[in-house]
Amino acid sequence: MTDVSSASSTYCSMCDCGESHWGWGQYARGPMLLLSQLLFAAPFGLLGEETRQVSLEVIHSLPGFPQNLLHIRAVGTNSTLHYVWSSLGPPAVVLVATNTPHSVLSVNWSCLLSPEPDGGLLVLPKDSIQFSSALVFTRLLEFDSTNMSEVAADLPGIPYPPYSLAKFFWNNITDSLDPATLSTTFRGHPVHDPNKAFANGSLAFKVQAFSRSGRPAQSPRLLHTADTCQLEVTLVGASPRGNHSLFGLEVATLGQGPDCPSMRKQHSIDDEYAPAVFQLDQLLWGSLPSGFVQWRPVAFSKKQGGRESALPCHASPLHPTLAYSLPKSPIVQAFFGSQSNFCAFNLTFGASTGPGYWDQHYLSWSMLLGVGPPPVDSLSPLVLGIMAVALGAPGLVLLGGGLVLLLRHKQYSDYQSIN
Ligand SMILES: *[C@@H]1O[C@H](CO)[C@@H](O)[C@H](O)[C@H]1NC(C)=O
Ligand SMILES: *[C@@H]1O[C@H](CO)[C@@H](O)[C@H](O)[C@H]1NC(C)=O
Ligand SMILES: *[C@@H]1O[C@H](CO)[C@@H](O)[C@H](O)[C@H]1NC(C)=O
Ligand SMILES: *[C@@H]1O[C@H](CO)[C@@H](O)[C@H](O)[C@H]1NC(C)=O
Ligand SMILES: *[C@@H]1O[C@H](CO)[C@@H](O)[C@H](O)[C@H]1NC(C)=O
Ligand SMILES: *[C@@H]1O[C@H](CO)[C@@H](O)[C@H](O)[C@H]1NC(C)=O
Ligand SMILES: *[C@@H]1O[C@H](CO)[C@@H](O)[C@H](O)[C@H]1NC(C)=O
Repeated sequence: MTDVSSASSTYCSMCDCGESHWGWGQYARGPMLLLSQLLFAAPFGLLGEETRQVSLEVIHSLPGFPQNLLHIRAVGTNSTLHYVWSSLGPPAVVLVATNTPHSVLSVNWSCLLSPEPDGGLLVLPKDSIQFSSALVFTRLLEFDSTNMSEVAADLPGIPYPPYSLAKFFWNNITDSLDPATLSTTFRGHPVHDPNKAFANGSLAFKVQAFSRSGRPAQSPRLLHTADTCQLEVTLVGASPRGNHSLFGLEVATLGQGPDCPSMRKQHSIDDEYAPAVFQLDQLLWGSLPSGFVQWRPVAFSKKQGGRESALPCHASPLHPTLAYSLPKSPIVQAFFGSQSNFCAFNLTFGASTGPGYWDQHYLSWSMLLGVGPPPVDSLSPLVLGIMAVALGAPGLVLLGGGLVLLLRHKQYSDYQSIN
């Protein structure tokens, strides 16, 4: 292990400076504040650790190897979560949950950079590990959706050759490491780019951790907890290969045993935080203690994501996939050894009609990765307020009517007593 630059934030320092970023302050809608705090604060105390002491650490590689390794360590009273993100090979994350506040990550760079990296990444003590898995972002996909008449039904268009994300050059994440927001960005472009498609463009993976629950200001405003971290994938300025190019991402993960993780769609009647999106897609690794990936099936074609720039995001079913057909991730092999139980799926963003990447050469999509039960959206304060007014008005009329009758009766009886 070599030199280390780190940034930490604790629950206490968050109270002073973090509030404006993702505290409760954002959805202080007057009297709704108390209601929202009651609604959101109560369940988290029961489900996982309510707050964690989160530190982000860039672990530098051997001199001469420009490789990024980000270690997010989130410590709670009884547990530690480790998220190890790296652009060594294709962008990937290894997530490990332990049942002690004292577990540590150990990196052997000479092993990790060798052709057989098995054992180059360890979380110690080993017997404290309750759950571990990984996600690998293997390929950026591009489809031509101009002529849908000759396209297979399950494809968004005719595929162009994909960009292998293992063959990207990634920036130095130390430069974008932000201790205040617990975030950093892996920004990359293809090493070989004969058509100069990425001359003015890049693909970015912004990783953000959280020391407590909340909701970001930016769409799709996924509800996060201290047990999660968020990934925002953004494609900006790259020249598409056709006039109607749709983009996608191929994602690989590890199955638990012979089975692939399950994909579930959860419906909601509440769309306040992501307009017109009534669904939450989830990938679940199995029974608890386990992990999850969660996202709204929406991407955005403008930086200020709103209804008019919302694109549908479609996820293909997960299929067991042979490891050799995927770009190899050294950090996954370093932690898990030579695994064969990979599963993969494709995410595609947009449709042949409606807004698209072609509008502004911009595309963004977000997901949450975490351990424990996925955060559940309760009805938002606004919707509850509307319901309260809707249900409350007739109640008030009845109550008011009753009072009037009571008073009339009283007046009547007063008259009688005078008579
Ligand atoms: C990244 O930047 C930091 C600080 O500027 C520097 O210490 C480190 O060596 C750089 N890493 C690589 C791989 O170039
Ligand atoms: C921590 O673990 C101990 C023993 O397993 C348990 O009694 C205690 O309630 C746990 N504390 C929290 C905050 O979960
Ligand atoms: C790191 O891995 C190399 C093999 O790649 C091994 O020779 C060396 O002893 C390891 N270092 C430590 C500290 O375990
Ligand atoms: C679309 O594909 C069909 C079938 O291959 C072809 O007949 C038609 O001319 C194509 N349209 C355009 C606009 O390329
Ligand atoms: C990149 O941007 C420059 C300046 O804005 C422009 O001249 C050039 O044509 C662009 N290249 C590509 C491939 O879009
Ligand atoms: C894209 O659109 C332009 C202008 O509408 C047209 O000239 C060009 O042939 C189109 N390119 C493709 C690949 O369809
Ligand atoms: C994703 O889409 C590409 C292009 O259509 C295809 O080659 C690849 O097999 C797909 N991957 C999965 C896991 O479905």
